[in-house]
Amino acid sequence: MDAVTIIEKVREGREPTQSELNWFAGGLASNKVTDAQAGAFAMAVLLKGLSEEGRVALTLAMRDSGDVLNWSLGKPVVDKHSTGGLGDCVSLLLAPMLAAAGVPVPMISGRGLGHTGGTLDKLEAIPGVRTDVTEARFRTMMDEIGCAIVSAGRNMAPADRRLYAVRDVTATVPSIDLITASILSKKLAAGLDALVLDVKCGSGAFMETEEDARALAKSLVSTASGAGCKTAALITDMSQPLAPAAGNALEVVEVMEALTDPKNSRLVDITLALGAEVMVLAGYDTAPEVAAVKLRDALTDGSACKVFDAMVAALGGPQGFSEGWRARLPEANVIREIPAPQAGKIAALDGHAIGMGVVHMGGGRLREGDQIDPSVGYSDILPLGAEVAKGTPVARLHAANEKAAQAAERAYLSALTIAEDVTPPPLLIDRVG
Ligand code: URA
Repeated sequence: MDAVTIIEKVREGREPTQSELNWFAGGLASNKVTDAQAGAFAMAVLLKGLSEEGRVALTLAMRDSGDVLNWSLGKPVVDKHSTGGLGDCVSLLLAPMLAAAGVPVPMISGRGLGHTGGTLDKLEAIPGVRTDVTEARFRTMMDEIGCAIVSAGRNMAPADRRLYAVRDVTATVPSIDLITASILSKKLAAGLDALVLDVKCGSGAFMETEEDARALAKSLVSTASGAGCKTAALITDMSQPLAPAAGNALEVVEVMEALTDPKNSRLVDITLALGAEVMVLAGYDTAPEVAAVKLRDALTDGSACKVFDAMVAALGGPQGFSEGWRARLPEANVIREIPAPQAGKIAALDGHAIGMGVVHMGGGRLREGDQIDPSVGYSDILPLGAEVAKGTPVARLHAANEKAAQAAERAYLSALTIAEDVTPPPLLIDRVG
């Protein structure tokens, strides 16, 4: 087999076989396939597209380019993947809630990407926590705690790491086929029985329009199901931050408030909906309403909080984190309110701009490998539809110094629209699966 023949096939709209794609993914992982060939392959896929079978075959080939975990826990293991957004700290809440309800969650997560935050960066805002654990530690955590949120080992879906870097510099990121194979190759390498996807749509999302979000959701669901993992997707609104905070430690605050003093909120509602969905997919329950009651019980009876504490301690963080957690989180030097420039209702929040505001404060990376400041970001973000008088706070900023605070205030105000009236979109837009 050779790369040129495989690229030619895709270029002509003929589908490569599974064994050809296995060869190509292996070649990406071993560097037998050159960067030029990887770029040509990505562009051919972007322009010609793959059939549903082709997408499954590429996903499996990329999954199998490295280690694939296998669990023998005696019950189905599940996970959730979000396409990313602002104030989206669902994973930190959902994994312990599911584990407390008896559902194992080996969650391999990512770091911040562009304007969106990453689960690993958020968890590592807790002093001492390191998510790059050995496979042995990962397995012990699954046996003893029932969930673990960790980073991918170097040898998980290595073909994706290579192809992603090439796509980034060859204008081939937006291919739905490649996005699907990229996301799922990594998730399926975790050996899941069921997966629920949170496909976000709106100004803070990877897919801004409902049409694009639906197309990605359909592709992800059919491909993951075709690869043998029971999967469904919820399309959810990201025209405003999910939790009223954006920034690593500030989102941990939202999670800890939900774990220690649960109340109804957009964050809790979406977490319950996603968790119930995956419990039904995996066969733990037959109706999402029943599963949601179990998950809510795990939250209100404090068992999810205990699981979270155990996970934090196992990852190197403090013992009993939920006792006195607020004082243990890093705090920014400058914390102050952002006053409304006029009276009216919060009519739009440009999620991309707010996310980039956090990145520029140091809460995200502009270059791979940048150190991040976990303490910075925005909190107390007023939701769409909230009424404000001129000068009353629309959000609170947390910055490292006065200069960064001034820039962060300008960024927030330029992302904000205040108008006379607004109808906020529903949180849950649709279900695909
Ligand atoms: N996230 C991924 O992991 N891959 C993509 O291609 C896009 C988003």
